[in-house]
Amino acid sequence: MKTRITELFGIKYPIQCGGMLWIAKPELSAAISNTGAMGNLTSGNYNTADELREAIDQTRTLTHNPFIVNITTMPSIRLPLGLLQDFFRVCCEKRVTAIEIAGAPVDSFLGKEFIPLAKDAGVKVLHKVGTVRHAVHAEKVGYDAITIAGFEEGGFPHKDNVSTMVLVPKVRETVSIPVMAAGGMADGKSLAAALALGADGVMMATRFLATKESGIHPNIYKVLVEKTEADTSLQLQTLLAGFGLQVRALRNEIMRKVEQVENSGGDLGELLPLISGERARQVWKEGNAEEAMLTIGQSVGRINDIPTVAELVSRMVADARSALESSLKMFGG
Ligand SMILES: Cc1cc2nc3c(=O)[nH]c(=O)nc-3n(C[C@H](O)[C@H](O)[C@H](O)COP(=O)(O)O)c2cc1C
Repeated sequence: MKTRITELFGIKYPIQCGGMLWIAKPELSAAISNTGAMGNLTSGNYNTADELREAIDQTRTLTHNPFIVNITTMPSIRLPLGLLQDFFRVCCEKRVTAIEIAGAPVDSFLGKEFIPLAKDAGVKVLHKVGTVRHAVHAEKVGYDAITIAGFEEGGFPHKDNVSTMVLVPKVRETVSIPVMAAGGMADGKSLAAALALGADGVMMATRFLATKESGIHPNIYKVLVEKTEADTSLQLQTLLAGFGLQVRALRNEIMRKVEQVENSGGDLGELLPLISGERARQVWKEGNAEEAMLTIGQSVGRINDIPTVAELVSRMVADARSALESSLKMFGG
């Protein structure tokens, strides 16, 4: 396949894995990159610049293909600003193919010198955004590409609640840099639809979570297959109001408690123990899906099996092609 994204990143298929805390580590990242799609190494998994350096080296021992490093630019106690700046510098020093920024823009959050730093190192910088205006800003300050994520997405969708279906063509018509579609992407039909809407590729995370190489507990794989598109919950609108964000996660015991705390005007002190990343880290390994805030998108409703990433990517590409061919037949073509 050839799109502006395959050209920009030097990859075979315009399919990228999104950042996934505790999940997108060297093994999964390399397995995805080895298929010709773009793996994701999430910097938030690491506590120091040296740990990220080692993870990049480890990924490179597992694949010779490009992968992207996610840096989530949100205020965090565990990952202070100085460390996020160091992560960005490490990516430039290691000349990774691309950096995926999620959260505040690099220029205002990390500093104006960072995009030029990446350009000098030949590292592409992509911004995952949830609104048209943020896409416009990203293009203006020199990002190389945009991922536009509709509110179907797992993780931290924008509070405007606009769907992928509306955002993708709108952003494509508004900016001239390459655009990836995210939120609700799960298979070849999604890829075909995203291309038809004008996207240059797709980014997905929940679907890659449900692959053998993600290495999560078998109970969670079962949950991913059984849950439907109606089984996620949007919360933390009050806590994250200042960032224009909210969280989409599996509807479970913890999310019901989070909802109660938010509705009763509870504060951060009450919420933090419920939503801590440490809880999620344990649950992915130990398998009780009720015990943590598990960021999962509506695309969970379209997951029926746990393939290897190679099976997933090859099936996706073949199905996208047949979806587009059968659509063409409707025009007599
Ligand atoms: C398990 C999991 C962990 C995630 N962690 C992060 C993260 O650390 N940083 C980030 O920017 N996005 C994170 N996300 C959001 C994804 O990168 C992506 O934007 C979103 O999941 C795409 O929607 P989809 O799940 O429908 O494919 C996470 C998503 C999942 C499923």
